[in-house]
Amino acid sequence: MTANTAALLIQHYVDNFRRLPWRAAPGEPAPEPYRVWLSEVMLQQTTVATVRPRFERFVERWPTIEALAAARHEDVLSEWAGLGYYARARNLIACARAVAERGGFPSTSVELRQLPGIGAYTAAAIAAIAFGERAPAVDTNVQRVIARLHRLRHAPREIIEPLLLDMLPAARPGDLIQAMMDLGATICRPRSPSCQECPLRSECAAFASGAPAQFPAPKVK
Ligand code: ADE
Repeated sequence: MTANTAALLIQHYVDNFRRLPWRAAPGEPAPEPYRVWLSEVMLQQTTVATVRPRFERFVERWPTIEALAAARHEDVLSEWAGLGYYARARNLIACARAVAERGGFPSTSVELRQLPGIGAYTAAAIAAIAFGERAPAVDTNVQRVIARLHRLRHAPREIIEPLLLDMLPAARPGDLIQAMMDLGATICRPRSPSCQECPLRSECAAFASGAPAQFPAPKVK
């Protein structure tokens, strides 16, 4: 893999990015942290296709973190129905109230991590996408793409994070992360990846091996 990888991936994103309601197009101002946070929480266990209309309904009803903080518990829980795990909705309300209380979202991954329901991945995703921090947000798609670029069978977070950090540009690091999420969802799929369509195949050690789907090795349960 070369320094060219990030540039190729960003160009592919500019040409192909999925216009999702919580995203800003490349070149547009960053999206609001409220929308990034809400989308990331909804996407934790639910697909993009399911989340999309639910996200739009939710932000129409509660357009800001202050509006959500003032909402009644039972209204939020019923709006959340079908998105799984009531614990997530309960954390969502607790987080909205904590953020409204302090006058807005904190802007660093370290501070975001302190909020109710925000883990390492979500904190990094909000910091990178909404605030432009070079925070390596590693979800399963990002993990697989990087493991393949480096031909890693074993790809724990401690190995993947610094490799992603190396690729993150100073400007709009969140675009590169979302480009990688899209690549993992559409081309670099777990089984039978579409390497012929991949903008990174010339940089990919797993492609060069002739058996890209073998990387990373499936987790032993
Ligand atoms: N899954 C989690 N976060 C996402 C995002 N920002 N875009 C697409 N898929 C995602």
